[in-house]
Amino acid sequence: MKTQTSSLELSHFPVMLSEIIEICNPSKGGFFIDCTFGGGGYSKALLKFPRTRVIALDRDMSVKSIATNLEKNFKNRFKFYQSKFSELSKILKENADTIIFDLGLSSIQLNDLTRGFSFKSKDKLDMTMGLSNISAQEAVNNLSETNLKLIIKILGEERDASRIAKNIVKARLKKKITKADELVQIIEKSKKKNYFKKINPSTKTFQALRIFVNKEISELINGIICATKFLKPGGKIIIVSFHSIEDKIVKYFFNNFSMNKSKPSRYLPENESDNFVLFEKYTNKIIKPTTRELRVNNPSRSAKLRFAVRNKNKFIYPHELIQKFSKYLDTERLYV
Ligand SMILES: C[S@@+](CC[C@H](N)C(=O)[O-])C[C@H]1O[C@@H](n2cnc3c(N)ncnc32)[C@H](O)[C@@H]1O
Repeated sequence: MKTQTSSLELSHFPVMLSEIIEICNPSKGGFFIDCTFGGGGYSKALLKFPRTRVIALDRDMSVKSIATNLEKNFKNRFKFYQSKFSELSKILKENADTIIFDLGLSSIQLNDLTRGFSFKSKDKLDMTMGLSNISAQEAVNNLSETNLKLIIKILGEERDASRIAKNIVKARLKKKITKADELVQIIEKSKKKNYFKKINPSTKTFQALRIFVNKEISELINGIICATKFLKPGGKIIIVSFHSIEDKIVKYFFNNFSMNKSKPSRYLPENESDNFVLFEKYTNKIIKPTTRELRVNNPSRSAKLRFAVRNKNKFIYPHELIQKFSKYLDTERLYV
């Protein structure tokens, strides 16, 4: 079936699409969950195969028009929900063959300067993806200096977090910080003079605030646990991540809950620990965009794709994952 492409869809290039489709192997049909619909690149590619069914989620209402179009064209095979993927269990009624997460922002969101995700924006400092409880503006104007420092340091892995937090508090005493470019100026003033400009000085602070506002680490951890619960034996979980914290979590989950895990979980009685494996042997191979893709889609340069295959064991909640990354989860809970 032919679908019309809107300018919104054209502004987003799906990362590693052919690699994703090869892993999904949809030619025989199947039930797929696209947890991060965005411009709909993956969903549309899967629907081209006649016997597939796709459920897609996105927390951002701005992609609804693209999804509605697909719902019209694929009435019995496609359904969209505006939802966070941590709430997958409220939507799914049956187990899936493949569940896909393409994390972070779409270029539709990043290029819309009114949303304040980009440090090129001169607009309001918002950064909410949708279904968020706090904006970046509220965060920078209300959090204590200590909490701002922790957020910027832990979620942004920013070395100059102390100075940036201090200067944010100093600036907001004079005037409320409302625009993205006002924050950029504060960050630039706070960075050491000899800062080696490999990346923009604002990158890490903007990343930290975006993660904090949208609770991205809690979303990822709860989302992948829930997805694992809803996978058929032999089903695949595919994750495309864009920064080191995300990849660290995914790598740990796949490595430690797969057949190649060397030591049993310390949270389970010894006789149960053998069954506490959720995935088949994990090969720990990262797939990255080809140089050909990088030529046409430069924003994909930091993308890393990992996937794991669900085994036949019954699902047991992997508390260890929460425990291991509690530093990030606690930081996301710091509020005013
Ligand atoms: C990188 S884009 C996905 C692009 C998509 N794969 C495509 O081909 O067009 C990520 C999307 O996931 C959404 N998103 C991020 N975190 C989410 C979450 N926790 N729950 C649901 N959607 C989320 C964002 O709003 C964004 O639209």
